[in-house]
Amino acid sequence: MSKIAVLPGDGIGPEVCAEALKVLDVVAGKYGIPLEFEEAVIGGAAIDRYGVAMRDEDFARCEKCDAILLGAVGGPKWDDPEAKVRPEQALFKLRYGFKLYANLRPVKVNPALIDASPIRGEVLRGTDLVVVRELTGGLYFGKPSKIWKAPNGVIKGVDTMAYSEPEIERIAVTAFELAQTRRKKVTSVDKANVLSTSRLWRQTVAAVAKRYPDVEVGHMLVDNCSMQLIREPRQFDVIVTENMFGDILTDEASQLTGSMGLLPSASLGKGKFGMYEPIHGTAPDIAGKGIANPLAMILSAAMMLRLSLGQPEAAGAIEDAVQRVLDAGHRTADLGGKTSTSEMGDLVAGELR
Ligand code: IPM
Ligand code: MG
Repeated sequence: MSKIAVLPGDGIGPEVCAEALKVLDVVAGKYGIPLEFEEAVIGGAAIDRYGVAMRDEDFARCEKCDAILLGAVGGPKWDDPEAKVRPEQALFKLRYGFKLYANLRPVKVNPALIDASPIRGEVLRGTDLVVVRELTGGLYFGKPSKIWKAPNGVIKGVDTMAYSEPEIERIAVTAFELAQTRRKKVTSVDKANVLSTSRLWRQTVAAVAKRYPDVEVGHMLVDNCSMQLIREPRQFDVIVTENMFGDILTDEASQLTGSMGLLPSASLGKGKFGMYEPIHGTAPDIAGKGIANPLAMILSAAMMLRLSLGQPEAAGAIEDAVQRVLDAGHRTADLGGKTSTSEMGDLVAGELR
């Protein structure tokens, strides 16, 4: 029996999660995979109910599971910059607490959606890359992080970016091992002309690269990378980068596929345990309308089956079903269509049956 923690969160999180569960139910039956679900309230919803973004007891429940499926957290209601509790704290507690340092974000251009992207089809065709984003270091976890008043009365803010060699080494290993299963090319992205963390990053990645002579390695500055992603995305196979650069580059890269609503992600540590979530946020503007695209969440569930539960066949079946639904022309609003969130889930579930 595999146990899965389901953390729907806020905004469209619960809507897209429901569709992933619908699809999981069907594959579980079809492939004889015994699944048990354990649901917990996190994010803004948990702040409203319990006063914290995630209770320790709910974290402990996740610890007993084999994987976590997470919708999204946050929203304007909890956006007060003065607030001590913020929905995003739940994410950081999970990422840091479970040492999920490797965030894999595949970006594959789907031929069926080539016209949905603002970029020209001839540039996009054949794009198939994975961003390996470091997830438990850098600015997100820098200390101290605060707003304070200097003696001269000027109010200031401070964030710190720190990386250690072992932190960089382990994420580099993830990237090179992944590249070995793909087109054997790693592009390490940094800002080594300015930041000392980036110089350490570059030298550490270069040292790890020596252990993988079959993999081609390149180093690219992050500003250049953001340009190259639009100019010639096909040049990339595996991109490895620090936390915030990875956050920014993956929002940008999502536009290659046509919509944020399509990109899944996996966050992994040393073992099989992982957390799976779409890269998109809570989309407060469309929450509650039943029009969100559930495919990123459904594809995240497929990644979970493959990477944490050892069920590659079931994972592939979900991905194929999604492809058939898109090939048949069904589109949610983000892709200019009229298919609702639950209709999309039904269509994928139907293809699986
Ligand atoms: C992401 C999101 C989060 C991040 C936010 C919600 C804190 O943008 O997973 O990419 O910045 O990591
Ligand atoms: Mg982001």
